[in-house]
Amino acid sequence: MSLSIAVIAGDGIGPEVVDAALEVLDATGLATEREAFPFSAAHYLQTGAVLTDADVRRLRRFDAILLGAVGGQPNDPRLAGGVIEKGILLKLRFDLDQYVNYRPVKLYPGIDTPLRGRGPEDIDFVCIRENTEGLYAGMGGAARVGTPQEVSTQTMLTTAFGVERCVRYAFGVAQHRERAHLTLIHKTNVLTHAGATWKRVFDGVAAEFPQVETGYHHVDACCMHMVANPGQYDVLVVPNMFGDIITDLGAAIAGGMGIAASGNLNPDGTAPSMFEPVHGSAPDIAGQNLANPIAAIDSLGLLLRETGRIKGDGEAVEAGDRVGEAVRAVTPRFAGKGLDRSGYGTDEVTAMVIAALA
Ligand code: NAD
Ligand code: IPM
Ligand code: MN
Repeated sequence: MSLSIAVIAGDGIGPEVVDAALEVLDATGLATEREAFPFSAAHYLQTGAVLTDADVRRLRRFDAILLGAVGGQPNDPRLAGGVIEKGILLKLRFDLDQYVNYRPVKLYPGIDTPLRGRGPEDIDFVCIRENTEGLYAGMGGAARVGTPQEVSTQTMLTTAFGVERCVRYAFGVAQHRERAHLTLIHKTNVLTHAGATWKRVFDGVAAEFPQVETGYHHVDACCMHMVANPGQYDVLVVPNMFGDIITDLGAAIAGGMGIAASGNLNPDGTAPSMFEPVHGSAPDIAGQNLANPIAAIDSLGLLLRETGRIKGDGEAVEAGDRVGEAVRAVTPRFAGKGLDRSGYGTDEVTAMVIAALA
Protein backbone atom coordinates (compact mmCIF):
# COMPACT_ATOMS: atom_id res chain seq x y z
CA MET A 1 0.00 0.00 0.00
CA SER A 2 1.45 3.39 -0.91
CA LEU A 3 0.04 6.84 -0.16
CA SER A 4 -1.34 8.82 -3.07
CA ILE A 5 -0.60 12.53 -2.92
CA ALA A 6 -2.09 15.26 -5.10
CA VAL A 7 0.46 18.04 -5.52
CA ILE A 8 -0.65 21.64 -6.13
CA ALA A 9 2.56 23.64 -6.40
CA GLY A 10 0.79 26.94 -7.13
CA ASP A 11 2.39 30.31 -7.71
CA GLY A 12 5.52 32.28 -6.85
CA ILE A 13 7.68 30.42 -4.37
CA GLY A 14 5.04 27.65 -4.16
CA PRO A 15 6.70 25.45 -6.82
CA GLU A 16 10.17 26.15 -5.34
CA VAL A 17 9.27 24.98 -1.84
CA VAL A 18 7.11 22.09 -3.07
CA ASP A 19 10.00 20.82 -5.21
CA ALA A 20 12.14 20.95 -2.08
CA ALA A 21 9.57 18.99 -0.09
CA LEU A 22 9.25 16.37 -2.83
CA GLU A 23 13.03 15.94 -2.98
CA VAL A 24 12.93 15.29 0.75
CA LEU A 25 10.05 12.86 0.25
CA ASP A 26 12.12 10.97 -2.33
CA ALA A 27 15.01 10.87 0.12
CA THR A 28 12.89 9.17 2.78
CA GLY A 29 12.64 6.17 0.48
CA LEU A 30 8.89 5.96 1.12
CA ALA A 31 7.02 4.81 -1.98
CA THR A 32 4.18 7.20 -2.88
CA GLU A 33 2.03 7.88 -5.91
CA ARG A 34 1.97 11.52 -6.91
CA GLU A 35 0.06 13.57 -9.42
CA ALA A 36 0.62 17.27 -10.11
CA PHE A 37 -2.28 19.70 -10.61
CA PRO A 38 -1.89 23.16 -12.15
CA PHE A 39 -4.42 25.13 -10.08
CA SER A 40 -2.90 28.57 -9.51
CA ALA A 41 -3.17 32.25 -10.38
CA ALA A 42 -0.85 31.69 -13.33
CA HIS A 43 -3.09 28.89 -14.65
CA TYR A 44 -6.16 31.11 -14.19
CA LEU A 45 -4.58 33.98 -16.10
CA GLN A 46 -3.71 31.61 -18.98
CA THR A 47 -6.93 29.60 -19.15
CA GLY A 48 -9.62 31.43 -17.16
CA ALA A 49 -10.11 28.26 -15.09
CA VAL A 50 -9.90 28.23 -11.31
CA LEU A 51 -11.05 24.96 -9.70
CA THR A 52 -14.23 23.18 -10.78
CA ASP A 53 -16.43 20.72 -8.90
CA ALA A 54 -15.09 18.03 -11.24
CA ASP A 55 -11.53 18.94 -10.19
CA VAL A 56 -12.53 18.58 -6.54
CA ARG A 57 -14.02 15.16 -7.29
CA ARG A 58 -10.68 14.07 -8.79
CA LEU A 59 -8.79 15.37 -5.76
CA ARG A 60 -11.08 13.46 -3.41
CA ARG A 61 -9.58 10.20 -4.63
CA PHE A 62 -6.16 11.00 -3.15
CA ASP A 63 -5.04 10.19 0.37
CA ALA A 64 -3.69 13.71 0.90
CA ILE A 65 -2.93 17.00 -0.85
CA LEU A 66 0.33 18.94 -0.66
CA LEU A 67 -0.04 22.61 -1.59
CA GLY A 68 2.68 25.24 -2.01
CA ALA A 69 0.86 28.57 -2.20
CA VAL A 70 -1.57 30.18 -4.61
CA GLY A 71 -2.04 33.85 -5.39
CA GLY A 72 -0.40 36.60 -7.40
CA GLN A 73 0.63 40.13 -6.55
CA PRO A 74 -1.79 41.24 -3.82
CA ASN A 75 -2.88 44.29 -5.88
CA ASP A 76 -3.18 42.70 -9.37
CA PRO A 77 -6.54 43.99 -10.72
CA ARG A 78 -6.99 40.83 -12.85
CA LEU A 79 -7.10 38.79 -9.62
CA ALA A 80 -9.44 41.11 -7.70
CA GLY A 81 -12.25 39.78 -5.56
CA GLY A 82 -10.28 36.92 -4.09
CA VAL A 83 -10.82 34.89 -7.28
CA ILE A 84 -7.80 32.70 -6.49
CA GLU A 85 -7.96 32.60 -2.69
CA LYS A 86 -11.69 31.86 -2.62
CA GLY A 87 -11.76 29.92 -5.88
CA ILE A 88 -8.96 27.51 -5.03
CA LEU A 89 -7.80 27.53 -1.43
CA LEU A 90 -11.06 28.18 0.39
CA LYS A 91 -13.04 26.01 -2.02
CA LEU A 92 -10.73 23.10 -1.23
CA ARG A 93 -10.91 23.67 2.53
CA PHE A 94 -14.72 23.94 2.41
CA ASP A 95 -15.57 21.25 -0.15
CA LEU A 96 -13.23 18.71 1.44
CA ASP A 97 -14.62 19.59 4.88
CA GLN A 98 -11.17 20.34 6.29
CA TYR A 99 -12.69 21.91 9.36
CA VAL A 100 -9.52 22.04 11.46
CA ASN A 101 -6.58 24.22 10.51
CA TYR A 102 -3.74 22.80 12.58
CA ARG A 103 -0.95 25.37 13.01
CA PRO A 104 1.91 24.66 15.40
CA VAL A 105 3.84 27.64 16.75
CA LYS A 106 7.11 26.08 17.78
CA LEU A 107 10.52 27.71 18.03
CA TYR A 108 13.11 25.22 16.85
CA PRO A 109 16.60 25.13 18.33
CA GLY A 110 18.86 27.66 16.63
CA ILE A 111 16.10 29.69 14.97
CA ASP A 112 16.06 33.35 15.96
CA THR A 113 12.92 34.80 17.46
CA PRO A 114 12.37 38.56 17.54
CA LEU A 115 11.28 38.12 21.19
CA ARG A 116 14.39 39.01 23.16
CA GLY A 117 15.43 36.50 25.81
CA ARG A 118 12.99 33.81 24.66
CA GLY A 119 13.97 30.32 23.62
CA PRO A 120 12.39 27.07 22.44
CA GLU A 121 11.07 26.33 25.94
CA ASP A 122 8.96 29.52 25.82
CA ILE A 123 7.41 29.14 22.37
CA ASP A 124 5.73 25.80 21.86
CA PHE A 125 2.00 25.83 21.32
CA VAL A 126 -0.58 24.81 18.74
CA CYS A 127 -3.34 26.91 17.20
CA ILE A 128 -6.48 25.02 16.23
CA ARG A 129 -8.14 27.38 13.78
CA GLU A 130 -11.75 26.73 12.77
CA ASN A 131 -11.52 26.41 8.99
CA THR A 132 -14.99 26.30 7.38
CA GLU A 133 -17.06 29.09 8.98
CA GLY A 134 -16.78 32.53 10.56
CA LEU A 135 -16.00 35.54 8.42
CA TYR A 136 -14.69 33.21 5.71
CA ALA A 137 -18.13 31.74 4.94
CA GLY A 138 -18.70 34.26 2.14
CA MET A 139 -22.01 35.46 3.56
CA GLY A 140 -23.02 39.05 3.14
CA GLY A 141 -23.27 41.41 0.23
CA ALA A 142 -22.98 44.89 -1.13
CA ALA A 143 -25.34 47.47 -2.56
CA ARG A 144 -25.05 50.83 -4.30
CA VAL A 145 -21.45 49.92 -5.07
CA GLY A 146 -19.35 52.82 -6.28
CA THR A 147 -21.76 55.45 -4.99
CA PRO A 148 -21.36 57.55 -1.84
CA GLN A 149 -24.15 55.38 -0.37
CA GLU A 150 -22.20 52.15 -0.82
CA VAL A 151 -22.93 49.57 1.90
CA SER A 152 -21.46 46.14 2.46
CA THR A 153 -21.75 43.41 5.07
CA GLN A 154 -19.69 40.32 5.81
CA THR A 155 -21.36 37.91 8.18
CA MET A 156 -19.53 35.85 10.79
CA LEU A 157 -21.23 32.49 10.37
CA THR A 158 -21.15 30.51 13.62
CA THR A 159 -22.95 27.19 13.98
CA ALA A 160 -23.02 25.04 17.09
CA PHE A 161 -22.22 22.06 14.85
CA GLY A 162 -19.17 23.74 13.29
CA VAL A 163 -17.86 25.07 16.57
CA GLU A 164 -18.37 21.83 18.43
CA ARG A 165 -16.43 19.60 16.03
CA CYS A 166 -13.52 22.03 16.03
CA VAL A 167 -13.53 22.52 19.80
CA ARG A 168 -13.78 18.76 20.35
CA TYR A 169 -10.73 18.24 18.14
CA ALA A 170 -8.84 20.90 20.13
CA PHE A 171 -9.64 19.20 23.43
CA GLY A 172 -8.38 15.95 21.95
CA VAL A 173 -5.08 17.60 21.03
CA ALA A 174 -4.74 19.26 24.44
CA GLN A 175 -5.51 16.00 26.23
CA HIS A 176 -2.45 14.35 24.72
CA ARG A 177 -0.01 17.12 25.53
CA GLU A 178 2.00 17.29 28.71
CA ARG A 179 0.44 20.50 30.02
CA ALA A 180 -3.07 19.61 28.79
CA HIS A 181 -4.15 23.26 28.69
CA LEU A 182 -6.59 24.76 26.17
CA THR A 183 -7.36 28.46 25.74
CA LEU A 184 -10.41 29.67 23.85
CA ILE A 185 -9.69 32.82 21.84
CA HIS A 186 -12.57 35.08 20.81
CA LYS A 187 -13.88 38.58 21.30
CA THR A 188 -16.93 37.79 23.40
CA ASN A 189 -17.11 41.32 24.78
CA VAL A 190 -18.07 42.72 21.37
CA LEU A 191 -19.09 39.76 19.19
CA THR A 192 -21.67 38.78 21.76
CA HIS A 193 -23.81 36.40 19.69
CA ALA A 194 -21.03 34.42 18.03
CA GLY A 195 -18.96 34.62 21.19
CA ALA A 196 -21.76 33.20 23.31
CA THR A 197 -22.13 30.21 20.97
CA TRP A 198 -18.39 29.50 21.15
CA LYS A 199 -18.33 29.86 24.94
CA ARG A 200 -21.41 27.69 25.50
CA VAL A 201 -20.14 24.93 23.22
CA PHE A 202 -16.60 25.19 24.66
CA ASP A 203 -17.86 24.86 28.25
CA GLY A 204 -20.10 21.94 27.28
CA VAL A 205 -17.28 19.97 25.66
CA ALA A 206 -14.91 20.90 28.51
CA ALA A 207 -17.10 18.93 30.90
CA GLU A 208 -16.19 15.80 28.93
CA PHE A 209 -12.45 16.50 29.31
CA PRO A 210 -11.94 17.08 33.05
CA GLN A 211 -8.20 16.40 32.67
CA VAL A 212 -7.80 19.44 30.36
CA GLU A 213 -7.37 22.79 32.09
CA THR A 214 -9.11 25.61 30.24
CA GLY A 215 -8.77 29.36 29.86
CA TYR A 216 -10.14 32.24 27.81
CA HIS A 217 -8.52 35.31 26.24
CA HIS A 218 -9.90 38.01 23.99
CA VAL A 219 -8.07 37.94 20.67
CA ASP A 220 -6.49 41.39 21.11
CA ALA A 221 -5.10 40.39 24.49
CA CYS A 222 -3.96 37.10 22.95
CA CYS A 223 -1.71 39.04 20.54
CA MET A 224 -0.19 40.84 23.50
CA HIS A 225 0.29 37.61 25.47
CA MET A 226 1.86 35.87 22.46
CA VAL A 227 4.56 38.53 22.46
CA ALA A 228 4.85 39.26 26.19
CA ASN A 229 4.51 35.76 27.63
CA PRO A 230 4.08 33.06 24.98
CA GLY A 231 5.09 30.35 27.43
CA GLN A 232 1.65 30.40 29.01
CA TYR A 233 0.05 28.91 25.90
CA ASP A 234 -0.27 25.20 25.15
CA VAL A 235 -3.23 24.79 22.75
CA LEU A 236 -5.43 27.60 21.43
CA VAL A 237 -8.79 27.16 19.72
CA VAL A 238 -9.83 30.12 17.62
CA PRO A 239 -12.39 31.21 15.00
CA ASN A 240 -11.30 31.35 11.38
CA MET A 241 -10.35 35.00 10.86
CA PHE A 242 -8.74 35.51 14.26
CA GLY A 243 -6.83 32.28 13.65
CA ASP A 244 -5.53 33.59 10.34
CA ILE A 245 -4.22 36.71 12.03
CA ILE A 246 -2.69 35.19 15.15
CA THR A 247 -0.92 32.45 13.18
CA ASP A 248 1.02 35.01 11.13
CA LEU A 249 2.04 36.52 14.47
CA GLY A 250 2.82 32.99 15.65
CA ALA A 251 4.97 32.41 12.56
CA ALA A 252 6.88 35.62 13.24
CA ILE A 253 7.70 34.77 16.87
CA ALA A 254 8.77 31.25 15.85
CA GLY A 255 11.27 32.51 13.30
CA GLY A 256 9.29 33.75 10.34
CA MET A 257 6.97 32.78 7.52
CA GLY A 258 9.53 30.40 6.07
CA ILE A 259 9.25 28.16 9.12
CA ALA A 260 5.51 27.80 9.80
CA ALA A 261 3.83 24.56 8.69
CA SER A 262 0.13 23.73 8.71
CA GLY A 263 -2.47 21.10 8.00
CA ASN A 264 -6.04 21.62 6.84
CA LEU A 265 -7.48 18.53 8.43
CA ASN A 266 -10.59 16.53 7.78
CA PRO A 267 -10.37 14.57 11.04
CA ASP A 268 -13.30 12.35 10.07
CA GLY A 269 -11.41 11.02 7.04
CA THR A 270 -14.37 11.63 4.69
CA ALA A 271 -12.04 13.47 2.29
CA PRO A 272 -8.29 14.09 2.03
CA SER A 273 -6.58 16.58 4.29
CA MET A 274 -4.37 19.26 2.74
CA PHE A 275 -0.96 20.35 4.01
CA GLU A 276 0.67 23.67 3.21
CA PRO A 277 3.04 26.26 4.59
CA VAL A 278 1.30 29.15 6.38
CA HIS A 279 3.02 31.57 3.99
CA GLY A 280 1.80 32.71 0.60
CA SER A 281 3.38 32.88 -2.83
CA ALA A 282 5.80 35.66 -1.77
CA PRO A 283 6.08 37.33 -5.19
CA ASP A 284 8.79 39.62 -3.77
CA ILE A 285 11.31 36.76 -3.49
CA ALA A 286 10.02 34.31 -6.13
CA GLY A 287 12.55 32.83 -8.55
CA GLN A 288 15.59 33.91 -6.53
CA ASN A 289 16.39 30.73 -4.57
CA LEU A 290 15.66 32.76 -1.42
CA ALA A 291 12.54 30.99 -0.13
CA ASN A 292 13.05 29.04 3.04
CA PRO A 293 11.65 25.55 2.27
CA ILE A 294 11.45 24.48 5.92
CA ALA A 295 7.73 25.35 6.21
CA ALA A 296 6.90 23.21 3.19
CA ILE A 297 9.19 20.36 4.28
CA ASP A 298 7.68 20.38 7.76
CA SER A 299 4.19 20.43 6.20
CA LEU A 300 5.19 17.32 4.28
CA GLY A 301 6.26 15.71 7.57
CA LEU A 302 2.86 16.57 9.00
CA LEU A 303 1.18 15.11 5.90
CA LEU A 304 3.01 11.82 6.28
CA ARG A 305 2.31 11.54 10.01
CA GLU A 306 -1.37 12.53 9.84
CA THR A 307 -2.24 10.63 6.69
CA GLY A 308 -0.26 7.60 7.81
CA ARG A 309 -2.16 7.61 11.08
CA ILE A 310 -5.57 7.86 9.37
CA LYS A 311 -4.67 5.15 6.83
CA GLY A 312 -2.97 2.92 9.38
CA ASP A 313 0.29 3.16 7.41
CA GLY A 314 3.09 2.88 9.98
CA GLU A 315 5.83 3.36 7.38
CA ALA A 316 4.40 6.74 6.39
CA VAL A 317 4.16 7.82 10.04
CA GLU A 318 7.75 6.79 10.58
CA ALA A 319 8.91 8.66 7.45
CA GLY A 320 7.06 11.75 8.70
CA ASP A 321 8.80 11.49 12.06
CA ARG A 322 12.16 11.25 10.32
CA VAL A 323 11.42 14.36 8.23
CA GLY A 324 10.58 16.26 11.43
CA GLU A 325 13.78 15.09 13.11
CA ALA A 326 15.87 16.04 10.07
CA VAL A 327 14.40 19.56 10.13
CA ARG A 328 15.22 19.84 13.83
CA ALA A 329 18.76 18.65 13.15
CA VAL A 330 19.29 21.37 10.54
CA THR A 331 17.79 24.46 12.21
CA PRO A 332 20.69 25.05 14.65
CA ARG A 333 22.72 26.00 11.57
CA PHE A 334 20.45 29.00 11.03
CA ALA A 335 21.52 30.56 14.34
CA GLY A 336 22.26 34.27 14.06
CA LYS A 337 21.06 34.56 10.46
CA GLY A 338 17.95 36.58 11.31
CA LEU A 339 14.24 36.35 10.68
CA ASP A 340 13.27 34.33 7.62
CA ARG A 341 16.58 34.67 5.86
CA SER A 342 18.36 31.49 6.77
CA GLY A 343 21.43 32.82 5.01
CA TYR A 344 21.26 29.78 2.74
CA GLY A 345 19.59 29.22 -0.61
CA THR A 346 16.44 27.12 -1.00
CA ASP A 347 18.55 24.40 -2.59
CA GLU A 348 21.15 24.48 0.18
CA VAL A 349 18.57 24.13 2.95
CA THR A 350 16.96 21.25 1.06
CA ALA A 351 20.31 19.51 0.69
CA MET A 352 20.99 19.95 4.43
CA VAL A 353 17.67 18.32 5.35
CA ILE A 354 18.33 15.45 2.96
CA ALA A 355 21.81 14.96 4.41
CA ALA A 356 20.34 14.92 7.92
CA LEU A 357 17.84 12.27 6.85
CA ALA A 358 20.56 9.90 5.76
P1 NAD B 1 3.38 35.96 1.90
O1 NAD B 1 3.30 34.98 3.00
O2 NAD B 1 3.45 35.41 0.52
O3 NAD B 1 4.65 36.92 2.13
C1 NAD B 1 4.81 37.73 3.29
C2 NAD B 1 6.31 38.02 3.52
O4 NAD B 1 6.95 36.84 4.00
C3 NAD B 1 7.04 38.41 2.24
O5 NAD B 1 7.99 39.41 2.53
C4 NAD B 1 7.75 37.14 1.83
O6 NAD B 1 8.95 37.34 1.12
C5 NAD B 1 8.04 36.46 3.17
N1 NAD B 1 8.03 35.00 3.03
C6 NAD B 1 6.94 34.23 2.82
N2 NAD B 1 7.31 32.94 2.70
C7 NAD B 1 8.65 32.89 2.84
C8 NAD B 1 9.61 31.84 2.80
N3 NAD B 1 9.26 30.54 2.61
N4 NAD B 1 10.92 32.15 2.98
C9 NAD B 1 11.29 33.43 3.19
N5 NAD B 1 10.43 34.46 3.23
C10 NAD B 1 9.12 34.21 3.05
O7 NAD B 1 2.10 36.93 2.06
P2 NAD B 1 1.51 38.07 1.08
O8 NAD B 1 2.63 38.83 0.46
O9 NAD B 1 0.50 38.76 1.88
O10 NAD B 1 0.73 37.27 -0.04
C11 NAD B 1 1.25 36.98 -1.34
C12 NAD B 1 0.20 36.17 -2.11
O11 NAD B 1 0.04 34.89 -1.52
C13 NAD B 1 -1.21 36.80 -2.11
O12 NAD B 1 -1.76 36.59 -3.38
C14 NAD B 1 -1.95 36.01 -1.06
O13 NAD B 1 -3.34 35.98 -1.26
C15 NAD B 1 -1.35 34.65 -1.24
N6 NAD B 1 -1.40 33.78 -0.04
C16 NAD B 1 -1.61 32.46 -0.29
C17 NAD B 1 -1.58 31.57 0.74
C18 NAD B 1 -1.77 30.13 0.44
O14 NAD B 1 -1.84 29.73 -0.69
N7 NAD B 1 -1.86 29.29 1.43
C19 NAD B 1 -1.33 32.02 2.04
C20 NAD B 1 -1.10 33.38 2.26
C21 NAD B 1 -1.13 34.26 1.19
C1 IPM C 1 -3.67 31.41 5.06
C2 IPM C 1 -3.97 32.46 4.01
C3 IPM C 1 -5.39 32.26 3.49
C4 IPM C 1 -6.34 32.46 4.65
C5 IPM C 1 -5.77 33.19 2.32
C6 IPM C 1 -4.77 33.15 1.21
C7 IPM C 1 -7.15 32.86 1.80
O1 IPM C 1 -3.77 33.74 4.51
O2 IPM C 1 -3.70 30.22 4.74
O3 IPM C 1 -3.37 31.79 6.20
O4 IPM C 1 -6.74 33.60 4.92
O5 IPM C 1 -6.68 31.47 5.29
MN1 MN D 1 -2.95 33.77 6.52
